[in-house]
Amino acid sequence: MIIAVIGSGNVGGALAQRFIQAGHTVLVGARFPLSEKSVKLAGKIGKDFGPG
Ligand SMILES: NC(=O)c1ccc[n+]([C@@H]2O[C@H](COP(=O)([O-])OP(=O)(O)OC[C@H]3O[C@@H](n4cnc5c(N)ncnc54)[C@H](OP(=O)(O)O)[C@@H]3O)[C@@H](O)[C@H]2O)c1
Repeated sequence: MIIAVIGSGNVGGALAQRFIQAGHTVLVGARFPLSEKSVKLAGKIGKDFGPG
């Protein structure tokens, strides 16, 4: 399944990681995709940053 998560905070980040672990494709939407928080989350879920 392809799942969009809006926001890369605690809740959004945790959901994104769990969905990835469950084998889904996840797109995370964040206001500041190159912020430290977003970059850290991208590193955790092992994906790229997509179009900024
Ligand atoms: N964490 C918990 O254990 C917990 C438990 C119960 C309830 N909640 C509730 O769940 C919600 C999220 O909690 P959290 O811990 O994940 O908070 P958080 O880490 O501070 O994340 C907040 C999220 O809201 C987004 N956001 C904030 N202001 C925004 C705005 N003006 N426009 C668009 N997006 C905005 C942020 O987007 P960006 O990613 O773009 O910055 C971020 O994704 C809160 O309402 C909190 O009270 C949390």
